[in-house]
Amino acid sequence: MSRTVQRDDDSRAHRVADTFRQLFGGAPDGVWAAPGRVNLIGEHTDYNDGFALPMALPQTTLLAARTRTDGRLRLHSAHGGGGTTELAVAELAPGAVPGWAGYPAGVVWALAEAGHPVGGADLHFDSTVPSGAGLSSSAALECAVAVAYDELYGLRLPGPELARIAQRAENAFVGVPCGIMDQMASVCCTAEAALHLDARTPEDHRQVPFGLEGRGLRLLVIDTRVTHDLGDGAYAALRAGCERAAALLGLPALRDLPAAELPKALPALPGDLVPLVRHVVTENARVEEAVARLREGDVAALGPILTAGHASLRDDYRVSCPETDLAVTAALDAGALGARMTGGGFGGSVIALVEAGRESAVGGAVTAAFAAAGHRPPHLLEVTPAAGARRLGPPAGTR
Ligand code: GLA
Repeated sequence: MSRTVQRDDDSRAHRVADTFRQLFGGAPDGVWAAPGRVNLIGEHTDYNDGFALPMALPQTTLLAARTRTDGRLRLHSAHGGGGTTELAVAELAPGAVPGWAGYPAGVVWALAEAGHPVGGADLHFDSTVPSGAGLSSSAALECAVAVAYDELYGLRLPGPELARIAQRAENAFVGVPCGIMDQMASVCCTAEAALHLDARTPEDHRQVPFGLEGRGLRLLVIDTRVTHDLGDGAYAALRAGCERAAALLGLPALRDLPAAELPKALPALPGDLVPLVRHVVTENARVEEAVARLREGDVAALGPILTAGHASLRDDYRVSCPETDLAVTAALDAGALGARMTGGGFGGSVIALVEAGRESAVGGAVTAAFAAAGHRPPHLLEVTPAAGARRLGPPAGTR
């Protein structure tokens, strides 16, 4: 970890611990951090038991936490409008906790549902992960609770199990039918690497070296500020379409259709399912190809793979939107090596791989293209592959 990241983490940990003291009285038992993510390639493949290649962001959700012995859960967020939500762990039930508090409460519920001996806690959150930008702010929130509870209640669960618990919270408690990629990225990523995820067996994930600095490359995130909402039904409909296609093909999941068999399989399917299947199968192949290039140390070769992935999401899966398409085109026209929307789609963010020194030219070109099209200015972030969820404190001398 670089010295600057370490210093930032330390001073943010101090700040959340201070706020915790003001809110709840006394010091927290600890401070934990869980990152947001971008996915490099492998989109809408996780719920098809397929492959993905996410990396964790330097942007994190911080959680100052302390156990309680009375079974109460008190939740406060620096971004939650000021109030503290108070709940009884024993009374947690799916759908019963609205708004942001549903995500952390859902993790406590999912741990208890899985039979783990967990009780109450005081929790204060503060986050630098932009929300609604397709960068997995919800997974960061969930995974911060998962790692904190794991330690506070002595559970010692492996990372993929914590990711499963967090996904279960989102699926069953909040009601969003997401796959496991975001939670796996938030828990299991390591710095300077992307995570090669096999969603069928998340415990078999591998770290793939993804050092950008040494290769003279940079990764830009362009947040289009078009808010995506996975709960709006479109994601669930796509997921259901994929499951129907797999059933028609007599396969457990679309992951089981090899790319070489696509030409034979597609004509047997109803027309509306053809582009979905084509996307998932070719996207899985793109993940494998990207991993092979990265293992050879050819990071720049990722560029065309990203761009091909975007074309497939735009033309076959149809989850891009005018703003993400424009960001990709403008970035490529300004010399980006590759660009694509990242995450679930319907807005959110675009990633662009650029040569060092081209960041401002590419960012400026996208901003100008947005202005010319009458869109709100995008938010630009330069990111590096960061570490997954971890304990930060308590900082020395605060307890
Ligand atoms: C969202 C979901 C993930 C995954 C992506 C699309 O981020 O939370 O599980 O399905 O969309 O790849």
